[in-house]
Amino acid sequence: MFDFLKRKRSLPTFAPLVTDMHCHLLPQVDDGSKSLEESLEVMEVMKECGFEEIRLTPHFNYPRFPNKAEDIKERYKNFCAEVEANKGERELPRMTSVTGEFQVSDGFNDYLESGQLLTYKFANPKKCSEKGLLLIEFSLHQKRMGLEDTVFKLQMEGYDIILAHPERYPYFDAHSSLLEQFKEQGVYFQVNILSLDGFYGEASNRKAYEYIENGWVEFLGTDMHNVMYAQALRHASTNKKIIKLLEKTEFENKNLVQNK
Ligand SMILES: [Fe+2]
Repeated sequence: MFDFLKRKRSLPTFAPLVTDMHCHLLPQVDDGSKSLEESLEVMEVMKECGFEEIRLTPHFNYPRFPNKAEDIKERYKNFCAEVEANKGERELPRMTSVTGEFQVSDGFNDYLESGQLLTYKFANPKKCSEKGLLLIEFSLHQKRMGLEDTVFKLQMEGYDIILAHPERYPYFDAHSSLLEQFKEQGVYFQVNILSLDGFYGEASNRKAYEYIENGWVEFLGTDMHNVMYAQALRHASTNKKIIKLLEKTEFENKNLVQNK
């Protein structure tokens, strides 16, 4: 009787992902959030859109954001305490780790050689490489010489690689042989949710769906930076194509934990 009374309220759009694994909400360490208050506002929207957990990934990008792993870990600890002390009545996602988004640029080798690459790992130990999963990005402007060698070297050294937002690099088109080669080498891809809603323009939007249709994409991330992105995320959460995609496609977001 009264079936409509039993019908469950539908879950928020991004609830199937459980975890966001790419965001810039540690205040004042990169081009992300500018303050504790801004981070709190953004996190509230992320919770409303369905994220239960967030994993912070500040930029490590020498010389623009020359962050140091130890400093970032310390700031993260303080930030968690400040969020707890200031969240008031807000419902927020849990913060479960800090790693980084490492740009393959001039300073990258120093991070590698000084053991500063912060990684996640899969909760399932069978899936894990020895040194964990490293989130990397490339320059958005031009293809760096030898980036394929860097990726290969990292894999040889025991890292699994997640390439952030492959759809955003103008020099990779939908049929890029280098991206194909990365997939053959076992590189994971993470598409930005906002690309799926056209936030970065038509080309990124088209490529994001194409890569997912190719079966190339294991992770989705918000790449959340500030309140403007939070508004865009709210907009994306009403996009019927995204809602449908999340209903029929499994992503690995929820299977990540922090590598110690
Ligand atoms: Fe990012």
